[in-house]
Amino acid sequence: MSDTKSNAMWGGRFAAGPDAIMEAINASIGFDRRLARQDIDGSRAHAAMLAQQGILSSKDAEAIREGLLTVLSEIETGQFAFSAALEDIHMNVEARLKELIGEPAGRLHTGRSRNDQVATDFKLWVRDQLDAADAGLLALLRALLAQAEAGADWVMPGFTHLQTAQPVTWGHHMMAYVEMFARDRGRMQDARARMNECPLGAAALAGTSFPLDRDATAQTLGFDRPAANSLDAVSDRDFALEFLAAASICAMHLSRMAEELVIWSSAQFRFVTLSDRFSTGSSIMPQKKNPDAAELIRAKIGRIVGANVALLTVMKGLPLAYSKDMQEDKEQVFDAADTLMLALAAMEGMVRDMTANRASLEDAAASGFSTATDLADWLVRELNLPFRDAHHVTGTLVAMAEAKGCDLPDLSLAEMQSVHGAIRADVFEVLGVHNSVASRTSYGGTAPSQVRAQVARWKERLG
Ligand code: ARG
Repeated sequence: MSDTKSNAMWGGRFAAGPDAIMEAINASIGFDRRLARQDIDGSRAHAAMLAQQGILSSKDAEAIREGLLTVLSEIETGQFAFSAALEDIHMNVEARLKELIGEPAGRLHTGRSRNDQVATDFKLWVRDQLDAADAGLLALLRALLAQAEAGADWVMPGFTHLQTAQPVTWGHHMMAYVEMFARDRGRMQDARARMNECPLGAAALAGTSFPLDRDATAQTLGFDRPAANSLDAVSDRDFALEFLAAASICAMHLSRMAEELVIWSSAQFRFVTLSDRFSTGSSIMPQKKNPDAAELIRAKIGRIVGANVALLTVMKGLPLAYSKDMQEDKEQVFDAADTLMLALAAMEGMVRDMTANRASLEDAAASGFSTATDLADWLVRELNLPFRDAHHVTGTLVAMAEAKGCDLPDLSLAEMQSVHGAIRADVFEVLGVHNSVASRTSYGGTAPSQVRAQVARWKERLG
């Protein structure tokens, strides 16, 4: 809806309305309508404070506060007619309030600017996203813990360079992701604690001559305190950047895990079976069951990191205080937040539903000379060889097994002794994958006893 007259909110000095192109580049209502609830919460808090401070009559404040609730319900029920001529959510709401309650609506903006208003609205919105990400991560942690607990002693190959390295336990692998996603949670919580200062009352940039009670509005809106510098309060978007940075790292973790699920669910690996609920079919190849959710999670990071880079680029080089450049903050953050929440929910569902194929894991764990390090360690421990010599002896035995086309435990004692005469029959005990993992009891190691201890510790921590 375009208006040919000058803007009702700021058009006093304007003789003509904006060009259609100007309106198109200037308006943010197409996306910042998502801030409606936060905008109305902020305005209601501001009006109540103005009345408390005697800046507004309590009658006017009451009319404003009630009128704003009507506006909110119109928006939430889809009855609200948004206007591009009114630029953004702040002016759309205020204009409708004026239609509803008349003159007092014009008093709401006392001691306030759209600059502190939008900073407050957006902070409230981002704060909700930090909480939602925290909840999504908690659900994912619980799903991972259930997998880890069920398979604390299932052996699988551990990889470096995606080459078989040493046997590990399924539970240990799941718990690695618990550590990663728990750090993501910590980052969301840290960001929330740091950002929780209220910009409202900073006004345009310099503060205001009205005797505002900024502590009161901060408290009403659930902030810990008012932001201490009015210039900073209106020009700060660190809170959005910290969310995007934490979201980027989290998305990177999700992408790594998704990649493993794609590999593991292939016919060549068969480590896991993904549920039908989180797989798709092929329109031409009837046998296919594709891990599309995992692939999409693997890819979603592009949007999130893209948003992070985009907003950093918007903010760099901006002089204090507010510049309209900052209106470009919202779409990026909205998209990144939607993407992250969806990816978290999809990963949680996939992890909860997936079945680890214990026999395939164990078969794979035993192949690829995965217990060669155990053999070298045995030579050090039992025969007192220097580790470098033990490494060499073991390498020779691996080459021998490779030439014979067998695994290390399939070599005979005589063959072993042909490489080092002192090797005894009890060496075979350390060549089994179960013994291998059971021996790695160092703190944080892969032994089932360690995994169970870590699962118990995390369960207690998460409550
Ligand atoms: N729509 C604007 C934004 O998102 C609101 C603030 C406008 N402030 C101004 N001084 N023009 O940034």
